[in-house]
Amino acid sequence: MKSLLFLTFAMAICTATHAQTKKNVSPTDKKVNELLAKMTLEEKVGQMTQVTLGVVGTKTDGELDPVALKKAVADYKVGSILNVTNHALTVQQWHQLLTKIADEAKNTRLKIPVIYGLDGIHGQTYTLESTLFPQNIAMAASRNMELAKAVTKVAAKELRASGVRWNFAPVLDIGRQPLWSRFPETYGEDVFMGKTMGAAVIKAYEEDGLQNTTAVASCMKHYLGYSASRTGKDRTPIYLPDIEMREYYLPQFREAVKAGASTLMVNSSEINGVPVHASKYLLTDLLRKELGFEGVIVTDWEDIKRVHERHNVAATPREAVAICVNAGIDMSMVPTDFSFYDLLIEAVKRKEVPMSRIDDAVKRILVLKFKLGLFDNPYPEKEAVANFGKPEYQSLALEAASEAMTLLKNENNVLPLSKNAKVLVAGPAAQSLSALNGCWSYTWQGKEEQWYPADSKTILQTITAKLGAANVLTTTGKGFDSPMNYDAAVLTAAAANVDAIILCLGENAYAESPGNIADLALDENQVALAKAAAATGKPVILVLTEGRPRFITGIEPSMKGILMAYWSGKKTGEAIADVLFGDYNPNGKLPFSYPRSMGEVVMYDRKPTEETREIFNDDVHTGYNPLFAFGHGLSYTSFEYSDIKLSTLQLKGNENLTITVKIKNTGARDGRHTVELYSRDMYASITPSIKRLRAFQKIDLKAGETKTVAFRINKNDLAFVNAQLKTVTETGDFKVMIGGLSAAFKYTSQGVN
Ligand code: BGC
Repeated sequence: MKSLLFLTFAMAICTATHAQTKKNVSPTDKKVNELLAKMTLEEKVGQMTQVTLGVVGTKTDGELDPVALKKAVADYKVGSILNVTNHALTVQQWHQLLTKIADEAKNTRLKIPVIYGLDGIHGQTYTLESTLFPQNIAMAASRNMELAKAVTKVAAKELRASGVRWNFAPVLDIGRQPLWSRFPETYGEDVFMGKTMGAAVIKAYEEDGLQNTTAVASCMKHYLGYSASRTGKDRTPIYLPDIEMREYYLPQFREAVKAGASTLMVNSSEINGVPVHASKYLLTDLLRKELGFEGVIVTDWEDIKRVHERHNVAATPREAVAICVNAGIDMSMVPTDFSFYDLLIEAVKRKEVPMSRIDDAVKRILVLKFKLGLFDNPYPEKEAVANFGKPEYQSLALEAASEAMTLLKNENNVLPLSKNAKVLVAGPAAQSLSALNGCWSYTWQGKEEQWYPADSKTILQTITAKLGAANVLTTTGKGFDSPMNYDAAVLTAAAANVDAIILCLGENAYAESPGNIADLALDENQVALAKAAAATGKPVILVLTEGRPRFITGIEPSMKGILMAYWSGKKTGEAIADVLFGDYNPNGKLPFSYPRSMGEVVMYDRKPTEETREIFNDDVHTGYNPLFAFGHGLSYTSFEYSDIKLSTLQLKGNENLTITVKIKNTGARDGRHTVELYSRDMYASITPSIKRLRAFQKIDLKAGETKTVAFRINKNDLAFVNAQLKTVTETGDFKVMIGGLSAAFKYTSQGVN
């Protein structure tokens, strides 16, 4: 009887499994499996190989070398090509180039299309005349999800119009180390902002369906912890305890997986001594098994080689290949040669990498290519071209740049300035385009202004357009580095004839390691210029175009107005002028805490002992004392909060809590405003943060108008990572805070954690 029962049970399992397998094989999987069955080891490993355009191109940008192309596609069977040789190409050049690559692939035995990938970081970086939008840090300042989605959809369309279907974006690294040269590519220091905007952007890239000419495959990057470098230098060691990693660095990737990201790029650095590319724990156990990511994992630039050459955890290049592929890498951005191909074939033959791992990687790559429609049509889609450079993208770029503008200081309402004023526009950023756009702008570093669209405007040009040439003086020359930009004596003399000085300081464009700095101090010659401007006695308005916060602590008291403009893309100049002269009412909010000094880089979601300083037996609350706090941003009108109400004071289990608050525009101008909801866990098993952002809503209020805003949260919004690395919400007292108001409630877990 017992054995019969067992048999029936076993049969039931078999049938169920069989039926399930049958049901789970989608038409794409079926095609992929059939193709995979025909492929040789060489063809499979070729698919896992990605080379840069320089390998198949000539020295002239946009031109292919037919012999080199044949070698890559026919002999080495490469699955992917990326990048540009030096700078952006026209749509037509992209089409010619990608058509030749597709033709070459059609000549191969199995005709597997090549997938081309580019970095469209804030718009389509590498196509001339594309529309560049604010960098992520500036989009986070806008606090506007719909806008973030809208600009992303344009980036997708302009990539696809160029014939490219894979974008290496978005960057999901959190900006908690302001020295880091990739800080501008982040959504700032807050986890909630990063995960919600990141997920929204991924949906915007992919939600139309990858077959559609309005979508591209996204690539969440750089998994994991890339921004946590100890020194802030790019690609240097990270020491990250699991509890911190799960609380601050992982949630963005978890949400991105749920949002449907098709691909992922790996962090080039090491965490706790293990290069992430070599970490089976991070790439397979955490990413695949826990987060459930099923897409393609691509390395970053040369990173498998570096596991041997720089990280020194593999004694030979082949060992590095074996370690990384076994850890979970699907595709290697080799990208300047074919060494990965040769070494991986050898490693498989020596049984250092199992065939099952190769098949798994190749399957994921082929699925991506099928989903993108490359097997149906590997050529640039002619019908996509109409989506390039539409006139409305210009107004969208202005809207996005305008919403990013963050007014940090406005002493005695010095701003907006009158349009009848006579102004001096000074400082190195006044006649620079690269200092308004930053990294990944037509070139990797973004500094070569000859590639920018001819109708791009500097700050000087936009202010001149508003006030008329007779009312605008300048002491700057073209480009950030012109020596005349820093001549304090000339500035002082010119200031005699004006009503105000608009001083444009900050950072010129940089990307990755070339942007490494030793400290956050603003360049001395810029500080000297600011001091000279203040000494004239004329009101000085400081406009900052920078990718990360550079110290202005010493000069801030003598600046009457300060506008943080970030690197906000094509329309940065226009957006600045609109705010300065009152055509736009600013509403951006800082996505990071603007630090005061190197020894006081404290995040807004500080711990109680970061907040409270013990001075002998007195406690003072000066631990969080940035120059400007996270969430700070002024308007030309004023807002008053009242009547905070909770739907319950006793939240239980999975119930929802609704919080309402009234906001009134008490000023004379219409205004746009972000209402932010923070929470505080009063006592918990892990020291709770003083506050955490849990939700926000952006609203429009006419002068005098009042609106009620409602937020709905539940226990998941209050959760934290505990000592067992579980995300939990513990029973206890909580507080919610909105615009200076707060309300307390109790949460009871009811054992449902
Ligand atoms: C960067 C990546 C980028 C890749 C390809 C690397 O240097 O770290 O973010 O996607 O280059 O351009």
